[in-house]
Order: sequence, then C-alpha cells, then structure tokens
Amino acid sequence: MKVLVIGSGGREHALVWKLSQSKRVKKIFCAPGNAGTAEFAENVPIPADDIEAMLKFALKEKIGLTVVGPEAPLVNGIVDEFQKKGLRIFGPNAKAALIEGSKAFSKEVMAAAGVKTAAYKVIVGIDEAQMSLGDFEKAAVKADGLASGKGVFICNSKSEIMGAVNKLLQGKIFGDAGSRIVVEELLEGEEASILAFCDGKNVKLMVSSQDHKRIFDNDKGANTGGMGAYSPAPIVNGLEKKILQKVMLPVMKELAKRGAPYKGVLYAGLMIKGKDFKVLEFNARFGDPETQVVIPRLENDLVDVLEACIDGKLDKIDLKWREGSACCVVLASKGYPGEYEKGKEIQGLANAKAFKDVFVFHAGTKLENGRVLTNGGRVLGVTGLGKSIKEAIANAYTGVSQIDFEGMQFRHDIGKKALGRK
Ligand SMILES: Nc1ncnc2c1ncn2[C@@H]1O[C@H](COP(=O)(O)OP(=O)(O)O)[C@@H](O)[C@H]1O
Ligand SMILES: [Mg+2]
Repeated sequence: MKVLVIGSGGREHALVWKLSQSKRVKKIFCAPGNAGTAEFAENVPIPADDIEAMLKFALKEKIGLTVVGPEAPLVNGIVDEFQKKGLRIFGPNAKAALIEGSKAFSKEVMAAAGVKTAAYKVIVGIDEAQMSLGDFEKAAVKADGLASGKGVFICNSKSEIMGAVNKLLQGKIFGDAGSRIVVEELLEGEEASILAFCDGKNVKLMVSSQDHKRIFDNDKGANTGGMGAYSPAPIVNGLEKKILQKVMLPVMKELAKRGAPYKGVLYAGLMIKGKDFKVLEFNARFGDPETQVVIPRLENDLVDVLEACIDGKLDKIDLKWREGSACCVVLASKGYPGEYEKGKEIQGLANAKAFKDVFVFHAGTKLENGRVLTNGGRVLGVTGLGKSIKEAIANAYTGVSQIDFEGMQFRHDIGKKALGRK
C-alpha cells in the first residue's frame, strides 16, 4: 500500500524510517518532510496544517494509510475529513483530540474519570481571575488551546500569577488559544512520559521515556521542544500497571462515553514522586523526541499496529520491544529556542550513520543541490541503541561527535538521570 506521513520533524523521520521496513508498504510520501525523510519517502510540499490540500493529494494518490505526526491537523479535524471520504487515517478525530487541544477539557475528562492530576480552576475573564485566584500562592498558568508548547507559565508568587493571567487574557499573546486559561497548583517531582496505542477501547502501553525540555545541561535555561530523550525511564518502572488501569483505560472509557472514542496514540505526561504520580497533561499524538527513542525499539510491523488501532483490533496485537535502551541527543541551531539562523551546511552525516546502533533522525533540515542544510531550530536527533542505558548514551554521543554545523548546540547530559537507577 501507499502510506502518507504528515509532518516534518524528527518524529516523522522516525515514523517514515520504521514504516519503510514494513513488507506491506510499497511507497511512502511525507508532507512536507525534510532531508532525512527524503531518503525513504517522496517529500510532498504541502504544509502539515493544510487539510484540504492533504485530502486532495491522498485521494489522487489513493493513499492506503495516512499517519498524522503533529497535533494541529488532528485538533483541526483532519481525521474527520479523511474518514468522510473513506480514507484510512491513524489518529484521533477532532472531538477526541480535544484532550490535547483544550487543557480545560482534558482536566474535566480527568476529573470525571478519576485520574489524579493537579487541582485547578478554569478562568475566562480578568474579573473572575481576580476573584477566584486568591488561594494560589504558586501556580502553573496555562493557555487553554494549542500554543506550540509555549503557553504555560510557572509562577512562584501571586504577582507572577496575575502577570501571566494578564498576558493571556488581556495581552492575548496566544489569541483565542489563551482566551480561556487553566490555573493549576504546582506539583513537585520528576517528569516522564508514556505513550500508548489506543483503538477506541483497548490500550497497549509503549515503553516509557523521559524528555529533556530545557536548553542547557542540568535542566537549566529556557524551555524547548525537547533537547533529547531516553527509553526506558527507570523512574516509571513498576508504575505501568497503575498507568494503564488508573489513567489510560479510565480516560478511554470517559471519552467513549462522551461520544469520542479515542483512536491513535495517547501520550500521558506524568509528574512522579516516589511511587506516586499525577498526570500533567495528555497529548494526542506521538511525542517528539520521545518517538525517536521508542519507535527504534519496536519490533512489530508498525502498519499492523496502526491498522489494529483504526480497526478496533488492538487486543490481537502483541507489542514486542527490543531489549536494552535508547538515547536521543538533539542537535540545535545557535540561538534556539530564541531566534536562530538557517541554511548552515551539515557535515558528517554519513559517518555518524555508519556506526552500528546509531540512527540520525532529521528535523529542521533541507536538501539543496545535494547538500544538507539546517532549516529549523531543532536540526537533528541522534539516537543510540545499547544493551544498557550507558551503552545507548555512549552510542548516541559517538554519533554526535561525527556531526558538525556552524553554531551547533546540544546537551551533554541526556540520559544521565537514568544512570545508577534500576
Ligand atoms: N501543575 C504543574 N506543576 C508543575 N509543573 C508543571 C505543571 N503543569 C505544567 N508544568 C510544567 O510545564 C510544562 C508544560 O506544561 P504542559 O501542561 O505539559 O503543557 P504544554 O506541553 O502544552 O506546554 C510541563 O512539562 C511541566 O514542566
Ligand atoms: Mg507538555
């Protein structure tokens, strides 16, 4: 069959790479893709959020399976539009994707499903904020809608809280996405995430992972889209059963009850303290860079798994994972997550890839006259596999040492938290 992957990040490169190994796949398209996806797929210059053009293309090419990477097209109903035309597409429909598209909705679902999460209030106006935020000395103030991971303010005083509330409700820095806000108690602990395949009814957990959000070593500096990840995350060990039974399944049930059965990848962001955890948020898709450490460990044919989700037959699938660990180090442009330059030539890609158990997943890259150039903030993700996390980290950094471009920056401590943990 012909497969279309939507998106252009490291996540999509990892998905395209994995799909290329399926005997059932004859041809892969990636829209819009990057220089890495071009190796296995034909890149199509359609922006990921142009649902109409994407639909037209899929119909013309008779695409047998479309896989959606980013959240925006999901929340904007790409799955609904494709299904109306009889096309098979992997991901939640708009109603179910609201679990990521609206933080207020997500909180409401968690409350109804009895999922443990931070105490919260939903606020729509500045008067309401002044009246009802008195209890909060510290808080996470969040834009309700999609804000590309930039809509959350961690506030450590009443004045910081009101400052963030003002920016969102009056300054409208995220437009309508911030016209309703969620204010939460601050949780303490360590973050980790777990992704699950869902078919509307059944849930199969993937292996756990831990992202590194801050730009600098030791979790210092500004928040980013993610500077690296590793899998499995020892901090999640032993919690899987509870995550399945107290988080994933109740949420699935609650969404089905609301007429929005969830099909696709459900991503739970957790705050873990000892053997206890609370859910920070849900995403309606594969994570980036989590996918770059999870998917290389998956041994099943990905097409079988994705189709089982679409067809409600996930109970027939036995997920198999490669033993050991994976570690992904993100190489970013100088200045990221602030302003950065593009168009720098990348050296050493072939050398890095030549190492056994090293994969180079492209994010912001493009091909120009046979040269690979930087084309985004996060440029590459170098994944190393290994029998232990130590070996996986070593392999990832061996790959990194081969690569260079002007202004390249990366963290030197990806996976460090897992060392010494069982
Ligand atoms: N209640 C909370 N307590 C402590 N930290 C939080 C809380 N909510 C969010 N955060 C921090 O803010 C980050 C972003 O919040 P999240 O809800 O995941 O939104 P998004 O990923 O959409 O930006 C989290 O990864 C976490 O580090
Ligand atoms: Mg998040």
